[in-house]
Order: sequence, then structure tokens, then C-alpha cells
Amino acid sequence: MASSVRVPSVFSSAPSSACSFRRFGGYSTVSFGFTSSESERRKGFQKLAVSVSAAAADSPPSTVLVTGAGGRTGQIVYEKLKERSGQFTARGLVRTQESKEKIGNADDLHVGDIRDAGSIVLAFQGIDALIILTSAVPKMKPGFDPSKGERPEFYFEEGAFPEQVDWIGQKNQIDAAKSVGVKQIVLVGSMGGTDIKNPLNNIGNGNILVWKRKAEQYLSDSGIPYTIIRAGGLQDTVGGIRELLVGKDDELLQTQTRTIARADVAEVCIQALLFEEAKFKALDLASKPEGDGTPTKDFKALFSKVTARF
Ligand SMILES: NC(=O)c1ccc[n+]([C@@H]2O[C@H](COP(=O)([O-])OP(=O)(O)OC[C@H]3O[C@@H](n4cnc5c(N)ncnc54)[C@H](OP(=O)(O)O)[C@@H]3O)[C@@H](O)[C@H]2O)c1
Repeated sequence: MASSVRVPSVFSSAPSSACSFRRFGGYSTVSFGFTSSESERRKGFQKLAVSVSAAAADSPPSTVLVTGAGGRTGQIVYEKLKERSGQFTARGLVRTQESKEKIGNADDLHVGDIRDAGSIVLAFQGIDALIILTSAVPKMKPGFDPSKGERPEFYFEEGAFPEQVDWIGQKNQIDAAKSVGVKQIVLVGSMGGTDIKNPLNNIGNGNILVWKRKAEQYLSDSGIPYTIIRAGGLQDTVGGIRELLVGKDDELLQTQTRTIARADVAEVCIQALLFEEAKFKALDLASKPEGDGTPTKDFKALFSKVTARF
């Protein structure tokens, strides 16, 4: 019987970048010019300060939809959004009722298939931002016997190839988001897309990086503020304890630092919604090993280092 597996990561085995802060719907910093007398100026300042902080306090949390919410990184994003309920209203899209139940069966979870544009319409109603964490998932061919030193072979189910899931499915999500006027889309992809010969493209003859990149291009051409995060090899380890590294054009793949905790990817997805510096940018993302460097806390500075638009 075929079993659903997670693809072996090519990242972990071979050696192989001006500033203003804005919260969705909120305010943070305001600068004032000198106009009249000192006391008038102070009064004006106080009034403005009161109205600014009132506006910040009253601004409703942004509604953020995470798709692939039943997946390993999507699930972490969904949980993090729910933990920050003062800032965000979390919503999730899962493919099946089974996935919905697996992650708590809450009313904010919608069931839909991204390949079927009609099935995801309701999930997108009224959202402010979208975080895309769906992906085609290859399955292992039956009969693999690790004791014989064999390498496993993979395939994609009919209709669930990267072309259908990572291209058509992501395009459907971007179109649905555009139709409801979202303010930002964060899309998680993968490092390796600059090289057509990357081994990930061979898995199940799926050309997964090619189709992911086509969707990334569609997003960057959409006019919607976007952040494309191309992650290195994903690891199921604790987040928030490593120095994060950003790069472009797969340069990090040539170094020894080309993996990242799923929890860190999830955090970067959410932080991308908080800073203007993250918009209209594409970044490769990895981390230093634990204990090497300083754990990243300043995400504004991290996004400011990113210069690439694609
Ligand atoms: N694995 C790595 O080392 C690695 C490295 C770099 C980047 N990445 C990328 O990082 C992202 C997150 O990876 P991950 O391993 O956390 O993801 P994952 O666990 O494989 O989750 C993928 C999710 O997509 C959902 N999905 C698939 N087809 C769908 C459809 N037709 N409609 C709705 N949802 C659908 C799946 O739902 P079901 O479970 O119901 O099918 C699953 O929840 C992916 O884009 C991945 O390619 C991975």
C-alpha cells in the first residue's frame, strides 16, 4: 500500500537582504513638524497622541487565512495566529474534514480543495491577508525495502501533481485573494528554484520547483503586496533560538547553513504581515546552527536586509 511520506530533503544531506512600521489597520510611529508656540505645539501633540493610541487600540485584528493549515508548517502558523488573538483573527483552510478534526475542528477552519476555485470562495470572504502553505505531497512507491540499501521512489497521485497543486492551486488562491482585496499575501516556497536540474524536480517527475516558481511569478506580477519565502530544508525543531539568514538566488544552498525550523518559517510568515520592509520582496530563508550567532528577534532588521523583488 502506498504511504504518504515526506520527501527527503536535499538541503540537509549535500553541500550544495529603509524603514517604517505598520500594523494592519493600526498605527505605530508618527512624526510631527514644529508649527506654532511651544504650548500650542504640546497641546496639539497630546491631542494627536490620544487619537493615535485610540485608533491603535480600536483597530480590529486582521483576519488572516492560512492555507495548508493541516500541514506541518501551516499548523504552526494557525496556532501562532490563534495565540495572538488581539492582533489577528485566525482562519484556516484544510483539504479534508479529517485534517480539520486533526487540528481542533474549530469553526474558523474551512474545508476546500485549492484545485477547485469554487470550493475555496467562502474561506476567502472578508480576509485581510493570506499565508499560503499548501504544497503537492509526493507518496512513496510500495515495495521499498531500506534493509536492501535501496533508494525509495516517489510518485504523485493522479490530479495531485505539482502542476495542479502548486501552480493551478496557488493561482486559484491568489485570484481568490485578489477578488476580496487582500492587503498582503505571504507565500512559502522552496530554495532551489534557480536550477532546473535540482533533484527535487525529479521527484515523481513532478518538476515541483518549476511549478512553484511559476506561481511565485504570478504572485509577484499580481500587484498585491507580497512576501515570497523560499525556505531551506525544513526541520521539526523548536523555533526562536537560532539566528536567521536571508539570501537570494539560492546562494545559501552553496553554504553549510541551508536548513530552518518549521517554527521559524511560521514566525517569519507572521512577522512579514507586520512590517512594510517585508512587502514586494522574495527571500531565501535558513538559519545558523543553534548556539552559533544571536537568535533573531528584530524582524524589521531582517526584512530590511532583503533587496530582491523576486
Ligand atoms: N520539506 C522540506 O524540506 C521543504 C524545504 C523547503 C520548502 N518546503 C516547502 O515548505 C512548504 C511547507 O512544507 P510542509 O512540509 O510544512 O508542508 P506539508 O506538511 O507537506 O503540508 C502541505 C499541505 O498542503 C495541503 N494540500 C495539498 N494539496 C491540497 C489541495 N489540493 N487543497 C488544499 N490543501 C492541499 C495538504 O493537505 P493534506 O494533508 O490534506 O493533503 C497539507 O496540509 C511547502 O511549500 C514545501 O514545499 C519544504
